Amino acid sequence: MLTSGGDCSGLNAAIRAVVKRAIHGHDLEVVGICDSTEGLLANPPWTMPLALDVFSGAVLRSGGTMLGTVNKGNPFSYQMPDGEITDRSSQVVDSIHQLNLDGLIGIGGDGSMKILHALMLQADIPFVGIPKTIDNDVPLTDFAIGFHTAVGVASEAMDRLQPTAASHHRVMILETMGRQAGHLALSAGIAGGADVILIPEIPYDIARIVQKIEDVSQDEKRNHALIVCAEAACPKDGEAVYAEQSGHKVYGGIAHKLGHDIHTLSGAETRVTVLGHLQRGGSPSSFDRVLASSFGVYAVDLLASGVFGRMVSWWDGSVRDVDLSTVVDKEKSVNLMGSRMRAARGLGICFGD
Ligand code: F6P
Repeated sequence: MLTSGGDCSGLNAAIRAVVKRAIHGHDLEVVGICDSTEGLLANPPWTMPLALDVFSGAVLRSGGTMLGTVNKGNPFSYQMPDGEITDRSSQVVDSIHQLNLDGLIGIGGDGSMKILHALMLQADIPFVGIPKTIDNDVPLTDFAIGFHTAVGVASEAMDRLQPTAASHHRVMILETMGRQAGHLALSAGIAGGADVILIPEIPYDIARIVQKIEDVSQDEKRNHALIVCAEAACPKDGEAVYAEQSGHKVYGGIAHKLGHDIHTLSGAETRVTVLGHLQRGGSPSSFDRVLASSFGVYAVDLLASGVFGRMVSWWDGSVRDVDLSTVVDKEKSVNLMGSRMRAARGLGICFGD
């Protein structure tokens, strides 16, 4: 088993569930691969035995991943220290064979799922994926591990911002993560009572936002306003704000641009909070613990019954599995006609359009 991509809360709960089910239910031995594919590019591969005694009572509740992870270094196009791009997939395949694995469970987001699926096809090793990401953009599952906890963190931030916004008559802007998907900002915005939610799926017009702030003051007689802004939100006539690091887009900063623009156009006093990695750490919510535990058990049962090339998924209140090859070609952005959007529009929340 390995964890891959950006970490989130609930990964350790999933690891624990896999090990417990494998040992209690199927008498299997479980090996953890450390640092995802990076551990498989090492010689010998970095591994740790995962027996029941590894799981103290604290693991279920803990953030991060006890196996370590990476969210860069795709073995199919690996950037070497001198900058050269090399295909190192055969090295990963050799390591997999060296470890004599009967199957692999990979806990990852959509990008990791795609890479791991291709690697395991090359290695001819049965593979089952478990979706995780605070972005909640893995297709064909309602929820990925970590999303619910991250929404909780962002909603709590809104609860803390509202009183200080009211005290100082300010417009408070909260920037959430999420990459190209607005799921996190949308849910946190609804839960946190936002007046404006900006998501990458709807490029915004700054004039609409300024108008909404005026409406809040005129119609609702409210002296403050709350805005949730996804990190990759972008203006209609502009671009998302990001920096490049080793060929990787690091989003962040759109909220500061927004704060500046709102102040310039309306005179409103604006303040910005960028939540960043706080959304990925900490103890998982009870929902994420249930989700991770259910996914872990189901994934082991799939592998043990000889079913593979599948991703476990939460759909309509229960766990099922879907064909991995249908997952890796799709995207899951916010459904603009979906229930959450209808709720948000119904509440009068402005999307800058
Ligand atoms: O994909 C999860 C995520 O947290 C995104 O929301 C965010 O853009 C990115 O990872 C941040 O990655 P890093 O840990 O490399 O800063």
